[in-house]
Amino acid sequence: MRKPVTLITGAGGEIGHGLIERLAAEGRSAIITIDLLPLDPTLAHEVEREFVGSILDTNLLERVLSEYEIDTIYHLAAILSTRGEFTPVTAHQVNVEGTLNVLDFAQAQGESHGRPVTFLYPSSIAAYGLPDLDTKARVGKVKEHEWNQPMTMYGCNKLYCEHLGSYYNLHYKQLAAEHLAGKVDFRAIRFPGLISAVTLPSGGTSDFAPEMIHAAAQGQPYACFVRPDSRIPFMAMPDAVEALLTLAAADRGQLRTNVYNITAFNPSAAEIRDLVLAGFGAASITFETDVKRQAIVDSWPADVDDSAAKTQWGFSPRFDLEHAFSEYLIPNIRARYETT
Ligand code: SER
Repeated sequence: MRKPVTLITGAGGEIGHGLIERLAAEGRSAIITIDLLPLDPTLAHEVEREFVGSILDTNLLERVLSEYEIDTIYHLAAILSTRGEFTPVTAHQVNVEGTLNVLDFAQAQGESHGRPVTFLYPSSIAAYGLPDLDTKARVGKVKEHEWNQPMTMYGCNKLYCEHLGSYYNLHYKQLAAEHLAGKVDFRAIRFPGLISAVTLPSGGTSDFAPEMIHAAAQGQPYACFVRPDSRIPFMAMPDAVEALLTLAAADRGQLRTNVYNITAFNPSAAEIRDLVLAGFGAASITFETDVKRQAIVDSWPADVDDSAAKTQWGFSPRFDLEHAFSEYLIPNIRARYETT
């Protein structure tokens, strides 16, 4: 007998960290993970089985398929936006071919146990691309179908994989090839920049916010790589994890689309600096623009319209900007570096 479980790919990353903790605390389903690297020991004991390997390895996916009956997949493995610009072909392999492998794996899972597999996919504000700062200022909040002209490889990959997921989606069963019919229940969230108190991102372009806060807490000077006026949406990590769980649990009948914006707050880099200085008075924060990373942030919207997520599956972040800093980031980050 195969065991019914939840699968998390890229489980050792930032979102995976918070997600494993939440899912393990709920205890409703055993968790299995795939990641290139072994999990942090604090997470490893929360999971039923840890596969160390790549989503590009179809033999590994076959092995998982033969041993486990998976009803939910959180496909988190990806190469983020800044790193993807250094190795665009590798980014495409991991972000697109990897996602295709995991979607096809989900389809095979669903066929073997006869029920659709719920497939959660973190997409990104990187799926958007605004041509210039005047347009960014003028359009304000963007809706999901607007400005879908990404400038990064990562953004292209995320936008395309939203379409790929929709192709596999059970709602497309009339259109898709018969052998694909109806076994992947694909649900994507376009995340804003995420800020965790527990982990640091690597290779993203929204990283200036978390890097600024973590550096300040350690008493290290930080040179922010975008201009003070740079503005994109952000969210505290617990709300991002909660959003994935809420969308996973939503009744499919409530969902009229497969891809949803969400957001919590959208401070400028200068406003983030001011909040960091209010929490860590001795912090030294300067601005040294990196031209390429600035161009990426300038192409991302200043805000997103999250009304579809609010009305269709009741999305509502717990932390606004002030409370994200005062209740989540500053106390937890301070405690983290005081004890290490
Ligand atoms: N935070 C990601 C990045 O900066 C965007 O999804 O690449």
